[in-house]
Amino acid sequence: MIGKAIFGGAGLLALACAAQAQAPTPVSYTADIAPLLEANCATCHLTGEEAGGMSLVSDSALSFLVNKPSQEAPGVLRIAPGDPDRSYLVMKLEGSHIAHGGSGARMPFGGSPLPATEIAKIRAWIAAGANP
Ligand code: HEC
Repeated sequence: MIGKAIFGGAGLLALACAAQAQAPTPVSYTADIAPLLEANCATCHLTGEEAGGMSLVSDSALSFLVNKPSQEAPGVLRIAPGDPDRSYLVMKLEGSHIAHGGSGARMPFGGSPLPATEIAKIRAWIAAGANP
């Protein structure tokens, strides 16, 4: 659990110390991210016609997110591959969107924030390139 949240340095250290050390499993869009979006987000972000202007259903989420400009924060991409800190989706999940020129509520709208472990998964997936 703890190891999962810390990638780069910790991963290298683990490799150096013991080849058998459990390396962090790469995050898969299909196995990890799509189900998370479907369960927590797609109820509202269903067709792309709703507020927010994007569908987060697994088949269409990538085309609405990756390298697409956010509506709320001018100049900020929804997902900047390789750069979770510059991805508006992450800001909306962590509640830092206002500080980055965005607006509206922290996501999921009206609900509890996602657990830190889930946000860490999304961050890791974006850091690795936000691949399908
Ligand atoms: C209960 C409905 C609801 C749920 C659930 C919900 N959203 Fe939203 N979302 C909205 C509404 C309404 C807006 C527009 C107003 C706002 O930002 O507060 C929005 C806006 C957004 C935006 C801004 C889009 C842009 O281009 O500016 C992002 C990103 C976003 N949501 C991500 C998510 C994610 C990720 C989840 C799941 C963890 C999620 N939302 C869950 C209703 C919801």
